Amino acid sequence: MIASKLCRTSPGVVSAFAGLLLAGLLAACESRQTKPVTETGSSLAPAAAAGPIKIGLLAPFSGPFAGSGKQVEGGARAYLEQHGSKVAGREIELLVKDTTGPAPDVAKGLAQGLIVRDKVDFLAGFVLTPNALAVAPLATEAKKPMVIMNAATSIITTKSPFAVRVSFTLPQVSAPLATWAAKSGVKSVYTLVSDYAPGADAEAQFKKTFEAAGGKIVDSVRVPMQNPDFSPYIQRIKDAKPEAVFIFVPAGAQGTAFLKAFQERGLGELGIKVLATGDVTEDQELPSMGAAALGVVTTHHYSAAHESPENAAFKQAFARVTGGSLRPNFMAVGGYDGMAAIATVIEKLGGNLDGERAVEAFKGLTLQSPRGNVRIDAETRDVVQTVYVRKVEQREDGLYNVEFDRFDEQKDPGK
Ligand code: PHB
Repeated sequence: MIASKLCRTSPGVVSAFAGLLLAGLLAACESRQTKPVTETGSSLAPAAAAGPIKIGLLAPFSGPFAGSGKQVEGGARAYLEQHGSKVAGREIELLVKDTTGPAPDVAKGLAQGLIVRDKVDFLAGFVLTPNALAVAPLATEAKKPMVIMNAATSIITTKSPFAVRVSFTLPQVSAPLATWAAKSGVKSVYTLVSDYAPGADAEAQFKKTFEAAGGKIVDSVRVPMQNPDFSPYIQRIKDAKPEAVFIFVPAGAQGTAFLKAFQERGLGELGIKVLATGDVTEDQELPSMGAAALGVVTTHHYSAAHESPENAAFKQAFARVTGGSLRPNFMAVGGYDGMAAIATVIEKLGGNLDGERAVEAFKGLTLQSPRGNVRIDAETRDVVQTVYVRKVEQREDGLYNVEFDRFDEQKDPGK
């Protein structure tokens, strides 16, 4: 108020001392005036504020899910490496925080610090559902867009109007797998999922779609989310003699443990097929799975073997930022596309950020992703994309999920 009055006061009429004092205030007026605002309040010119745009990246970097955090961060940094870290004249700064695993209280505390102390413009990352669910109310309260780069339980995006998902949902990939299995003549399936929200989503959707197509679910079992011993479950599957087993476990070493135990107990020799979400044969882990993974059929949104110029460029950028020893998986693509979406939104807003306008700008956004084109549904803020059917095959440089069928324009059927 005082400042705006002084803006209109001629400095010539005040004393030299007061003039000095005024200089700062006038500078403040000037900077306000140089920030053009349209009638609707949307500012399209480059931002007056010269400081960095801060993105708080929450993911696990220690414990059994550390590999996933590395992938997400590698993907986000690959985008910045490829496209430059300045958007609409402002530098992008990543503030990376370790949630340590499925630890809702840790995630909440870290998000609080990022919002209150670091004053971030975006919250991002979110590998694990329990952490995303814990942070959603904080994003709402602080009006901060929350860009979900992996966490895949259907309900997450309904928990905050500021949540936007660029990754996938378990129902989105499980429904096409059930349809494909029924079409391929599979009649009886035993389901095994991780005992937490994404597992429950996968189990429910597979069952619903498979039964609607005339299939029979022989039995369903849920295993502990962390460090499960698969042997007793595999014995039960063997005894039940289904034609196939449907499995979801979170990306990482669990997929290898399951497939190795499955092979060792001779279920493959009995003719029992493995149908899985792509989490089970994800690209970071796949090279160490060996023969146990050969022939496994999965559905997912990304394979490192996907052939497109976008994917080739992405893989090169990922290799440059990670030192080349790691194969990018779907979480890396989530990190990359999340950054791409954030950069697009910053451009749209001319670098002048406001949480509510940012969320509006995410709605309906399309990206030329390394997985193929994707869209953020304007109504649900969830991703719409092609889901691929793939089979693990041996190639010259290792095992890959090779795409052989596709379901286009898949929305999350869980909503
Ligand atoms: C999740 O917690 O939402 C989650 C984690 C790992 C996955 C998929 C979903 O591979």
